[in-house]
Amino acid sequence: MATEYIFHKGVLFPIMNYSPETLSFVENEFQVRDDHVFNVTYPKSGTNWMLEILSLIRYGGDPSWVCSVLNWKRAPWMESQTGLEAALKYLPPRLLTSYLPIQLFPKSWHHSKEKVKIIYTLRCPKDLLVSLYHFSHFMHVYKLSSSIDVFLEDFLSGNMPYGSWFNHVTGWMRLKGNENFFSITYEELQQHPQDSVWRICHFLGKELSEEQVATVVENASFQSMKGNKMSSFSLLQDKYIDHKKGNFLRKGICGDWKNHLSEVQTGFLHSAVPGAIRLNVCGGWAPT
Ligand code: PPS
Repeated sequence: MATEYIFHKGVLFPIMNYSPETLSFVENEFQVRDDHVFNVTYPKSGTNWMLEILSLIRYGGDPSWVCSVLNWKRAPWMESQTGLEAALKYLPPRLLTSYLPIQLFPKSWHHSKEKVKIIYTLRCPKDLLVSLYHFSHFMHVYKLSSSIDVFLEDFLSGNMPYGSWFNHVTGWMRLKGNENFFSITYEELQQHPQDSVWRICHFLGKELSEEQVATVVENASFQSMKGNKMSSFSLLQDKYIDHKKGNFLRKGICGDWKNHLSEVQTGFLHSAVPGAIRLNVCGGWAPT
């Protein structure tokens, strides 16, 4: 299937399910309400894992909602055409997902900055790149690259859908320290799942018992999500995905980059990651 991108305000987007009109509407007219919670990421950073955690926290760990409603309906990607339709129909309080770089985020958010909660999940760019590379082989929204080298070049130059990872992360992380902005890494979710869920609950002002937190962790685990059709994308239409070629829930581990990237490739990536992000935001990414 031929994949094309559109260029909107200097950022690439897949042509499938995106349009300049929708993106402009989201930026200029979408009304953010005080009770909105946003799950914001650069693709492949742990978007759906966080979506699952937030869905479960909303119901105190009870998996009924995540087992009966598709993830993209529980927290629609508001900048896509179908996502925007779902977001506009969504009865408050809304849980929304977004890959938008900060400069394209709804302007109305500035009026609700004191109340609206934004959760930003980051992932080690080496694992993110590998995950994205595999994903591009079975998701029709991405163009196929001839090799991981070419893919890396595009990643480093920001020639990717949703723009440059570097700009995305530095743009959003400028909000660090803001009371209504919470950032967490995929690696923290892996290493300290319980503690991570506690911190998210605390940020959201949701009090969950120890048992409820454990239920959230369990029901949002890789295996639970893989076994849940509402979360695994196995029901995504064939026009978006080639289910025979790959799984959305692929490996779900940290460090898979070691199986795919050469020393030279990781060297390029390391030197391109801004020091402040590498060391201060996510110490684990420091080159060894
Ligand atoms: S997307 O397409 O941008 O929405 O993808 P995203 O959800 O951000 O990231 C997909 C990767 O996250 C992994 N994943 C998980 N890992 C651990 N635990 C859980 N519960 C989980 N859910 C999703 C998923 O497998 C992708 O990573 P890779 O490395 O490709 O396996």
